[in-house]
Amino acid sequence: MSRKIHVEILDDAEAVGREAAARILAVVERKPEAVLGLATGSTPIPAYRELVKLAHERKVSFAGVKTFNLDEYLGLSGGHPQSYRQYMNKYLFAHLDIPLWQTALPDGAASDPEAECAAFEARIHAAGGVDLWLLGIGSNGHIGFNEPGAPRDCRTRVASLAPSTIEASAKDFGGAAGVPRQALTAGVATILEAREILLLATGAGKAPAVAAALEGPITPQLPASYLQAHPSCAFMLDRAAASKLVKP
Ligand code: PGA
Repeated sequence: MSRKIHVEILDDAEAVGREAAARILAVVERKPEAVLGLATGSTPIPAYRELVKLAHERKVSFAGVKTFNLDEYLGLSGGHPQSYRQYMNKYLFAHLDIPLWQTALPDGAASDPEAECAAFEARIHAAGGVDLWLLGIGSNGHIGFNEPGAPRDCRTRVASLAPSTIEASAKDFGGAAGVPRQALTAGVATILEAREILLLATGAGKAPAVAAALEGPITPQLPASYLQAHPSCAFMLDRAAASKLVKP
């Protein structure tokens, strides 16, 4: 079976960052009012750094861009140092001319989280849908906090973190015990509605999940495998993350 997902293999994480930034910037150059889906985690940091640099060099304005982030920890307000809101402000928004009110993350401290999730979906819809959604992948194959078992049709909702995800986040919370157990996350269906998807993965720890997502069956046990059915999805990998592919 030929692979529908486009795969690009680059030397290292910095090269992935450069390529990803160029791809994102091209979207904004083509469409100054682009709607971008964004991700947090360690993987996109080089991409955001490069994006800021490129946007300044080429004088590309983000004043008309709207952004939607995948997820936020339940219980953390946007002012919490470990919130994804703080991450996004620090690594990206503070360095671009995008007004903060055009940047959306689910509010982890909302008094009614379910209503917050519904409002997040409505806001994406009102913006006309996402042009390009940037994703990472968990070592367990999650996208956003859609952990193994997440159904294809799930939408933005409160979801529980898998044990391996809690472990991966422990360093940010002074140990696993401090990691929130739940998060508000865009659903699989929410993500798949983006017109284009760009998944980044770097490091050998991601290699088994990347290989399963690209070469295994489409299964809820590995939510990134749902991307095989998307009409316009690309994976940008460094050599280490691509090292378990049978057909690189
Ligand atoms: P990471 O997280 O970039 O910190 O590895 C990715 C993810 O879990 O989606």
